[in-house]
Amino acid sequence: MKILVVGNGGREHALLWKLKQDAPSAEFYATEPNPGMAELADPVEIGPTDVDGLSSWAEAKGITLTVVGPEFSLAHGIVDAFRRRGLPIFGPTSAAARIESSKAYAKDLMARAGVPTASHRTFTRWSEAAPYIREIGAPIVVKASGLAAGKGAVCCPTLDEALETARGMLEDRVFGEAGAEIVVEEFLEGEELSVFGITDGRDVVLLLPSQDHKRIGEGDTGPNTGGMGAYAPVPWVGPDLQRDVREQVFLPVLDQLAGAAAPFRGLLYAGLMITQDGPRVIEFNCRFGDPETQAILPLMESSLLELMLPVARGGSVGAPEIRWREGAALNTVLASGGYPGSHEKGKEITIPPELLSSAGLLVFHSGTRTEGDKLVTAGGRVLSVVGIGDDLDQARERSLRGAEEIRFEGKTFRRDIGRKAFESREAPRS
Ligand code: AMP
Ligand code: GLY
Repeated sequence: MKILVVGNGGREHALLWKLKQDAPSAEFYATEPNPGMAELADPVEIGPTDVDGLSSWAEAKGITLTVVGPEFSLAHGIVDAFRRRGLPIFGPTSAAARIESSKAYAKDLMARAGVPTASHRTFTRWSEAAPYIREIGAPIVVKASGLAAGKGAVCCPTLDEALETARGMLEDRVFGEAGAEIVVEEFLEGEELSVFGITDGRDVVLLLPSQDHKRIGEGDTGPNTGGMGAYAPVPWVGPDLQRDVREQVFLPVLDQLAGAAAPFRGLLYAGLMITQDGPRVIEFNCRFGDPETQAILPLMESSLLELMLPVARGGSVGAPEIRWREGAALNTVLASGGYPGSHEKGKEITIPPELLSSAGLLVFHSGTRTEGDKLVTAGGRVLSVVGIGDDLDQARERSLRGAEEIRFEGKTFRRDIGRKAFESREAPRS
């Protein structure tokens, strides 16, 4: 078997690591792999959006399964290109990926499917957005409709901030074309939850629920990032809530997508707010989440490969029993100083070798590269340090120890990943 992983962040490193455990004798390839991935896969020097280049390479190479990490590859139609050549690939077509690449489309889809979400309106003109924002008042959320690397949503506590944010997106194009259309929506209060479902377009198998930490600062302060850490499972999520999420969120939206001639195959990610009135969708993503994947996959004892293969081949997901390790995993992301704003790169990274062999600890690479025989920083989010333990306390303690021991200039991380789980053990709802 020959497996290609597209993408080179922490999520893709975790996917590669898990698939390699599932199929140790398979041949692995990865596009422009980071140094961590390069230890597990042969490099393919074709960019993740060169979908024609990748599909012809995969055909010539006889690739058995391609797994796609990044949303932009999916939005660029990598799945469409592979399917045209009859190559098995795990992920949605570009039409189905619009559920992430256009927030306005996603909102419309949810309205038609009757999926609970924040009330909203979409605007392309500042002159129309401003009166609406004034009418609703703060707090309010302003979002760029297009892809903005997880940073295009701004929660505005004051009216002035909301007006300024919307004006910046629509008039000054601070998010470029991604902000040419904006979504203005109700601010939801509650606990955030990430739920991933592997789906054949009709049926869906949910993975362990997890919780991301989007803000840069401890106590959920400061600007949004791509995600500063995550843990799984979330102790207050019980079977009733999981059933509600499946029945009220996943199944109706999959049905709508199928009806709109854009059936979704692959991994659908629901970003939820669990409010007093039950789950509300904040966003859908069309792929695995980062940093949640790095916390979820180390807990999966059964095969991910066997879950993905039938879906990638066009078959049904079936009713597999997924086995999970008892306990918990917690991922602390190490970022460059200044992230999510401008940050320097090329800082030497020191990972004590004994750390990599210590029990219950995994390090996944994101923004790293080699320079001679050194490992250096090469992006905003640099490494994911995952602690795995018999409970969340142990997982957290292991992750934090690793985060402390790895060194590079400007290293920034949150010491409070997972604290919300302890604070909210009085569940919003179980
Ligand atoms: P998004 O890019 O839509 O996932 O939003 C990024 C983050 O902004 C989310 O993870 C939430 O923390 C926050 N957020 C987005 N929409 C809302 C909302 N309607 N109410 C409260 N917080 C929100
Ligand atoms: N965890 C946020 C994302 O992957 O978009």
